[in-house]
Amino acid sequence: MSPAIRARILEPTPEHIEAAALTLRQGEIVAMPTETVYGLAGNAFDPAALTKIFNTKERPTFDPLIVHVAAPSMSSASSAQSPLGHLKTIEYLSAIEVIDLERLSDTAKSRAESLLQAFWPGPFTLVLPKHRKIPELATSGLPTVAVRMPRHPVAQALLRCAGFPLAAPSANRFGRISPTSPQHVLEELGDRIGMILDGGPCEVGVESTILSISSAGELTLLRPGGISVSEIRRVCGAEPLVASARDMEEGKKPLAPGMLDSHYAPRKPMCLLPASVDSLEQDQIAELRPWMRDRIGLLVFGDPEAKATRLEELTGRIILARSFSVTKDLDESARNLFTTLRRMDESDVEVIFCEPSPSREGLGHAIEDRLTRASSK
Ligand code: TXA
Ligand code: MG
Repeated sequence: MSPAIRARILEPTPEHIEAAALTLRQGEIVAMPTETVYGLAGNAFDPAALTKIFNTKERPTFDPLIVHVAAPSMSSASSAQSPLGHLKTIEYLSAIEVIDLERLSDTAKSRAESLLQAFWPGPFTLVLPKHRKIPELATSGLPTVAVRMPRHPVAQALLRCAGFPLAAPSANRFGRISPTSPQHVLEELGDRIGMILDGGPCEVGVESTILSISSAGELTLLRPGGISVSEIRRVCGAEPLVASARDMEEGKKPLAPGMLDSHYAPRKPMCLLPASVDSLEQDQIAELRPWMRDRIGLLVFGDPEAKATRLEELTGRIILARSFSVTKDLDESARNLFTTLRRMDESDVEVIFCEPSPSREGLGHAIEDRLTRASSK
């Protein structure tokens, strides 16, 4: 028997946001929408709340959290918050005791400021020197903290109402498919949390881009996401290094454990195809033999019927196809990525075949990354 569901999905009315903020002030955790994926939020300054996040997700404590911050308010007249809108964004982060500005060079400061001006609020996370008030647990003992200002209005309303930054990993069990709707959160954690704020389906659909900046100002891409490398290049005129799995293994603590090999995984075995169904060669089909089952799920970019028919001809098996986007649009594919994976995982197919991302540009890079990690080794 499955454990009882106790979480309630709540419309984001002012009363419900106040209730969620009260829950957070009491050291409890709630699920909140963001434009990327749903997050499991707790007070970033409270080690007890952080412990609840790790336990609820069954997440190892070596995997640090992202700290979400409110957009600074521009005037003190209209809100209870202090008027920090006149500050530079990095000064604001220092004023709210999230980062330590002293540990950044002038080059790093100006580069960080340009990036935050360009991409915040939005699907962009910057790793900066941490303020001593951020508990070690939030950063897994690292001297840095990952910070993001989400643009979802419900996340912003909750952050403003709570009055403190919120640590929030994706609201799924560790290693599983990220949630992009309140129903997904209910499926993942409904037996473990009380409250899910409903912000509708997530507009971006894949997690934020994570970039680290060294004290000297060097940039490293830790996770591709909602903001592309070409956008980063355009803003700061510098090419970020791309962290490899090797870098992750060499340090004992992963630089960004979101880059651990197996992640975002369906329960069924998933095979990432070497090419789109239309361009699969006979020898490539032969190599798929160990994966063959009677009922095969097929995830595609483009027309699912045409691709299912072609794969049926090639393999002689029953194919159930679903498309991320019939027009191969990358924004739509990202938005549908995790829902499509989740629905296929719930169907009665025995194995999932998936086409590779049609592009590495823009969101195509993040899509490629998530599908690679979701597929079985
Ligand atoms: O879009 C997102 O970023 C979502 C929403 C909820 O905001 N959050 C999210 O959190 O994806 P999570 O916990 O699933 O991924 C956090 C990633 C982890 O891979 C973690 O290792 C990395 O951020 N990270 C956190 N702090 C870090 C640090 N100090 N240095 C390097 N990587 C860090
Ligand atoms: Mg996650």
